[in-house]
Amino acid sequence: MLDLPTLEAALDPVLDPVFEKPMRAIGSLLEVKLEGTKASLRIKLPSPSPTIEAKARRRLEEAAKRVGVTEVVLDIQVEVPTREVLGDDPVPGVRNVILVMSGKGGVGKSTTAVNLTLALAKLGHRVGLLDADIYGPSIPTMMGVSGQPISKDGKRISPLERFGVKMMSIGFLLEDEKQAVVWRGPMLHGALKQFLEDVDWGTLDFLVLDLPPGTGDVALTMAQKLKVTGVVMVTTPQEVALQDVYKSVSMCHKLSLPILGVVENMSYFVDPAGGRHDLFGKGGGQKIADFAQAPLLGQIPIVQAVREQGDKGFPIVQAQPDGEVTAVFLSVAEALVEKVLKDHFERTGGEKLPAGKGPTRLKIMR
Ligand SMILES: Nc1ncnc2c1ncn2[C@@H]1O[C@H](COP(=O)(O)OP(=O)(O)OP(=O)(O)O)[C@@H](O)[C@H]1O
Ligand SMILES: [Mg+2]
Repeated sequence: MLDLPTLEAALDPVLDPVFEKPMRAIGSLLEVKLEGTKASLRIKLPSPSPTIEAKARRRLEEAAKRVGVTEVVLDIQVEVPTREVLGDDPVPGVRNVILVMSGKGGVGKSTTAVNLTLALAKLGHRVGLLDADIYGPSIPTMMGVSGQPISKDGKRISPLERFGVKMMSIGFLLEDEKQAVVWRGPMLHGALKQFLEDVDWGTLDFLVLDLPPGTGDVALTMAQKLKVTGVVMVTTPQEVALQDVYKSVSMCHKLSLPILGVVENMSYFVDPAGGRHDLFGKGGGQKIADFAQAPLLGQIPIVQAVREQGDKGFPIVQAQPDGEVTAVFLSVAEALVEKVLKDHFERTGGEKLPAGKGPTRLKIMR
């Protein structure tokens, strides 16, 4: 006989799709109701990612149907966990701050930052992109955005927006984009500070920062200003790039900036005849990942369209939603989200997902 206690007993051992602990025990299965053979379940997920939702749905449905339920209605509450927000945090509504960096120039930091942000948005997250490269901003070109941001209240600047991404770059403030920014270090810090404090970022699940190449000035400033969720380290596979990236990893360790993962860009080239060529060698990304004790989040091939779309201001993830490179960026985004969520779970003791701040979004789905 199907009754509520039977259903509850069947659902008790169902594992959370991210944390792999019983949903009931960690507070992600919130409520169970039964009308006849129809079960209504209220659950809480730490990301709107469709993959995570599908996994939760499949597991719950399987368990419920085993005891005679014929229909499962899910009421899903999504709440992305937030990093630690201290009293003087300049962006308290930003749940996660991700630094995209590399000791090496030209390895694809900006390309990765842009496409990763768009991939996070495609998974349903609220995202922002901050161009922290004051001397060589790439975001305006790569995202195809120009124009001056405005201030509605004369105090805070509204970020520009395209493809659902809120953005800020020094490039938006230059009258002529070929103009050089001639500033000393302290002014750079001042600009970054303003980009955090004076820009109305609102509530975001992820704010991605595109860092300049080289030493850790910006990373240091960020680490002093707020609790960064972590770093995505970008590298290319060849030895000469790795040397600089190792230094970046060591710097992160010194600053206690967690490295969430490594992206190996320009990993291989697929020629039109179908052959795969490791132009820059093999295994570099894995070496950095091993050194950083972080996962290799993905390997991005060299594809002409990636460069072309970047130059056009219509990034590949947006331009080719079903393309192969987009699939790679989506899987990088999923791997990153999973790492962020698991780190957060461990940091908070893994018992209950913290309530966090900001609105939650409710979805009723069948
Ligand atoms: N996977 C790829 N396939 C083809 N071209 C790429 C790829 N990744 C990056 N590029 C191109 O390589 C160039 C350098 O990339 P990008 O500007 O993203 O690097 P960066 O690390 O941000 O550089 P910088 O150190 O100057 O900030 C750009 O023209 C970009 O379009
Ligand atoms: Mg760049």
